[in-house]
Amino acid sequence: MNKEEYRFSYEVYDSADELNEADARLVKEARKVTAAAYAPYSNFNVGAVAKMGNNEMVTGTNQENASYPVGICAERALLATAANLYPKVPIDTIAISYDNINGKSSHPISPCGMCRQTLAEYEERVSQPIRLILSGQDGKVYVLKSASSLLPLSFGSADLK
Ligand code: THU
Repeated sequence: MNKEEYRFSYEVYDSADELNEADARLVKEARKVTAAAYAPYSNFNVGAVAKMGNNEMVTGTNQENASYPVGICAERALLATAANLYPKVPIDTIAISYDNINGKSSHPISPCGMCRQTLAEYEERVSQPIRLILSGQDGKVYVLKSASSLLPLSFGSADLK
């Protein structure tokens, strides 16, 4: 028997003020774009902003539905838009934030499992990791080098061969 270990590290900043200018701007945009979310059921508005490899910006927000499972998360809304507007262009960084109308939004949130799977495949199809910057409307900010670091032992296209 062998034991394998999975470790990953990420950067923790006390606030967005500590980020470099480009990252701070992206976080500011993600916080702002939460206003475009349609989340009348959860009151949890999520906003995501991507800086693409061609320097364009793409946004995504969660879009809910009265038939709850039909709703889509901000991250997957963003990835679908990015793929349609700029096919094959890698995504350098995605900043994700949220506005929780029912409570505080001062701790970072991390993509749900379904979004992690989608982010991991996006990295694979454009052969480039996606940096993630996670934060609430204020407070600590996490910076991860690659979205797929959140999905160890993942299922991917190679498994189908
Ligand atoms: N949500 C996102 O958009 N992204 C996440 O990373 C977590 C959850 C959305 C889904 C749903 O509309 C609301 O937040 C509450 O779960």
